[in-house]
Amino acid sequence: CGIVGYVGNGIAKNAILKGLESLEYRGYDSAGIALIENDHIFVEKKKGKLNNLIEALKEKEINSNLGIGHTRWATHGEPSDRNSHPHLSMDKTIAVVHNGIIENYLELKRFLEEKGFTFISETDTEVVAHLLQYNYTGDMKETVFKTIKQLEGSYALGIIHKDYPEVLFCARKNSPLVIGCGNNENLIASDVPALLNYTRDVYFLENGDIGILTKNNIDIYDINGNCLIREKTHIQWSLDQATKNGYPHFMLKEIFEQPKALRETINRMVHEDNIGFENILSREELEKINKVYIVACGTAYHAGLQGKYALNKISKLEANVEVASEFRYNDPFIDERTLAIFVSQSGETLDTLEAMKEAKSKGAMTIAITNVVGSSISREAHKVIYTMAGPEIAVASTKAYTTQMIILYLLAIYIGKNRNTLSKKDLNHYLNIINEIPNKIEQELKNKEEILTISKLLVDKNNGFYIGRGLDYQTALEGSLKMKEITYIHTEAFPSGELKHGSIALIENGTPVIVLATQKELIDKSISNIKELKARGAFVITIGFDNENLRAVSDKFIPVENIDNIFSGFISIIPLQLLAYYTSIGKNIDVDKPRNLAKSVTVE
Ligand code: G6P
Repeated sequence: CGIVGYVGNGIAKNAILKGLESLEYRGYDSAGIALIENDHIFVEKKKGKLNNLIEALKEKEINSNLGIGHTRWATHGEPSDRNSHPHLSMDKTIAVVHNGIIENYLELKRFLEEKGFTFISETDTEVVAHLLQYNYTGDMKETVFKTIKQLEGSYALGIIHKDYPEVLFCARKNSPLVIGCGNNENLIASDVPALLNYTRDVYFLENGDIGILTKNNIDIYDINGNCLIREKTHIQWSLDQATKNGYPHFMLKEIFEQPKALRETINRMVHEDNIGFENILSREELEKINKVYIVACGTAYHAGLQGKYALNKISKLEANVEVASEFRYNDPFIDERTLAIFVSQSGETLDTLEAMKEAKSKGAMTIAITNVVGSSISREAHKVIYTMAGPEIAVASTKAYTTQMIILYLLAIYIGKNRNTLSKKDLNHYLNIINEIPNKIEQELKNKEEILTISKLLVDKNNGFYIGRGLDYQTALEGSLKMKEITYIHTEAFPSGELKHGSIALIENGTPVIVLATQKELIDKSISNIKELKARGAFVITIGFDNENLRAVSDKFIPVENIDNIFSGFISIIPLQLLAYYTSIGKNIDVDKPRNLAKSVTVE
C-alpha cells in the first residue's frame, strides 16, 4: 500500500495524486483521497487502478490545502470502493489512511460497537477512525496520542480532522513513513519517490514516532509526547531514476540497468583486493562464527540460494537458506556463533523482518542486505549492506536480485579471505571475475532480439518446466518464478536428475522445458536429460556455454558468455529474465504490475 499526505500553500489534491502515482507499485487494487474543504471532509475512492480515481476527480475543483491519499493492496476485506482508504469516523469529522495491520482490531471493533459505532467497511483501518472520534476530547493532538497507544500491530498512519484544516497528523510503527520538508508545504509518504516532486529533504520516522505537520512546521514526538530531534536526510536520487527512462516498461529498464547497478555495488565495496566489509564483520566476529543462515522471500530467497552456494564453495562455511515465513517454525539452531543474513529489496517484507527479530532474540549476529536506505529491515539489523540498485519499480525483481547476489558473493570472498580458507591466488581470481561480470551481462543483453523470437513460441503455452543441475538448478528456480509472475504460465523448476522421479509424467508433445546447462563438468548428464525429455515430446530450449553437442540435441539454443562455473548464475539469469519479459509482452500482460502481486508485502 502507499500513503501520501500534504499540507501547505499548494493544491493538496494535485500533490497527493502525483505522489500516489509514484507509489502505485506498492499496491494497486484501489485508491482514495480525503481533503478538507469548507469545514467538511471530501472523500473520493475508486476500486482498481489509480487512474480511476484521477478520472473521478478530473471535473472537481477542490482547492483544499490539506489532505491524505492512499493506494491499497487488500489485506482485510476484498478490493472495493467501500474498503478503499481513506476511512472516515462515524461523524465524518476525521479521515484516516493506513498501511499495515491493526492486530487488535476485532477487540477494538467489539468495544466500539458496544459504544454504538457502526462499521461500513470490512477493514481494520476503520476502527482507527472511529476510535479517534470516540477518544476526541476537543484537543486533536492529545486524542492522537491516546489513540495510538491503544493500537497493536503495524501502522503508517495519516490523519486529518475537519476542525484542523492546517494540521496533518501521522504515526509510524513497523510500516515505513517519511516526512518531506518543503517550502511553505510539508508532506508525508510511505516512500521517497512520492516526495521528490516537492522536496529532497526528508525525515525517516522511527518506530513509535508521531508527527504533527503544518505548512511551516514539523514536530516529531515519541508516544509519550516528548519532542524528538530527528536527523534530516538529503535524498540524492533524481526523480528521473524513478521513471522509465525511455524504456517501455520499468522491468525492461531495470533488466538493462543491471550492469550499472552491479558496477556501482562492486565499486563501492571492492578496492583492489580489499573488500570493504571490515565494519560489517570484524576478524574477531568472523572467528566466532560457525554457521550462516540466509533468510528471505521470493526472488531475494533465490539470491540467498546462490549466496549459500558461494559461501559453501568459496568460504567453506556451513550455510543454510530459509524461506522467511517458515523460518520460525523450523526451530533453527541459532546461537551467538550464528551469522544470520536477511535479504530484502524493499527492506519492508514483514516475513523477513519477523524472522530477523527471531534470530536476534536467539543471539545471532544479523546483517541486512537491502536496497532501501532507512527501511525497517535495515534499522532492525545489527549491520546493513546496501545494494546500489537504485529504486526498483517493476514488481518482478531483476536488478535487485543480481545486486543481492553480488553482495553475497563478495561476502563469501571476504569471509574466505579473513578466515584463511581462500588462497591469495583464488582471491585475485575471483575478484577479477567479479569485476568482469557487468561487462559480460552487457554482452548478454545484446541477445534480446533472439530471445524475443524464442518468446513467441511460449505465449500459447499453459505449462513449462525449468531444469538444471547444481547451481543451474538455483537459477532455474528464479527463471521459473519470473515466468510465473508476469506471464501466468504455470512453470516449475526441478533439479535435472529429479524430473525422472515423477514430474516427467507431465511431459507431452510440445511441453516447453528450459534447460540450464552452464556447469561444464555436468554437460554430459544434461545432454542425457535432454534426450530423455525429447523422447517424450518436450520442446527443449537450452541455455548454456556454447557447446556443439548441447546445440545438437536442443530445439533452441541460447549461448551465454563463458564464465567460471561458480559465477554462472549472474549470466544465465539474463536470458531468463528477458524470456519472461517478452513472453509477458506477447501475452499483453501489464508486465510491471502483474495481477495479485505487490512489490512490497508488509503483512505475514
Ligand atoms: C514480494 C514481491 C517479490 C519479492 C518478495 C520479497 O512477494 O512480489 O518480487 O521478491 O516480495 O521482497 P523483498 O522486498 O523482501 O526483497
